[in-house]
Amino acid sequence: MKNLLVSFEPVCTITINRPQALNALNQETLSELKTVIKECGERADVKGIIITGAGEKAFVAGADIKELTLLSKEEAFTLAQQGLQIFKMIEDCPKPVIAAVNGFALGGGCELAMACHIRLASENAKFGLPEVSLGILPGYGGTQRLAQLVGRGKALELAMTGDMIGAQEAKEIGLVNHVTSTQAELLELVNKIMAKILKKGPLAIAGVIKSVNTGYAFANEGYKTESENFATLTTTKDFAEGTSAFIEKRTPNFKGE
Ligand code: CAA
Repeated sequence: MKNLLVSFEPVCTITINRPQALNALNQETLSELKTVIKECGERADVKGIIITGAGEKAFVAGADIKELTLLSKEEAFTLAQQGLQIFKMIEDCPKPVIAAVNGFALGGGCELAMACHIRLASENAKFGLPEVSLGILPGYGGTQRLAQLVGRGKALELAMTGDMIGAQEAKEIGLVNHVTSTQAELLELVNKIMAKILKKGPLAIAGVIKSVNTGYAFANEGYKTESENFATLTTTKDFAEGTSAFIEKRTPNFKGE
């Protein structure tokens, strides 16, 4: 794996490892993630999954913005569908999946964390859906899962302002379950909670995951609407302006075109 560090048995720890881009998810990383999640589902010796980011700065800073600028509308739609499918695989995994959020969890990174069953964060973690600052919207299920986790009003505020929130606020609104002071403590706690879950009946755990997820039907129109809007927005002048501004490290000037 080029972009992931993976250690198996009995828990698979997946570390997203593209520090030069703050662990942003390019298509290659997404595809590697799909391969590992599938393998974890199939391997009897893997009992649970922990997802974290390499380094001390980022969990995942989103989809790879530079790569997004190269996509046609059709390719953007396909990418959003792929991202949705992979995150759905994570959400539906019958084994516990815990995100250890060790820094920026933005856009696709926040969406990845939200697809996990449980989120823990270190004090320096920052969460947000800043896609509107690029002239697009979250494309990997963020509009749906954020509303499920924190309620519609707070989700709309975060997705419309693009504001980043710290770990403590994320805990207050229900986006994360526990916050630790340091990254070392984060990894300790995630392993402790995983060990506790793995002492329970695996079939019962799978049943809990399936039952909770069934209450949040994936087949609703929201995910489809999100993908369609995501693809359409990548064709706008606003997206060209938003992404140029990001790359040139300046404030964008949107015109609604
Ligand atoms: N994609 C590609 N490259 C990224 C990236 C991303 N999402 N986030 C950071 N990087 C790169 C930067 O371009 C920079 O590269 P260079 O050194 O070559 O310039 C490097 O990582 C370090 O980043 P910064 O210099 O920006 O670091 P900073 O500390 O000043 O800021 C940050 C950190 C606030 C997280 C900032 O990097 C940032 O805002 N990143 C983008 C966050 C974002 O908009 N995410 C959403 C992406 S779109 C998406 O995810 C769509 C979807 O739902 C599918």
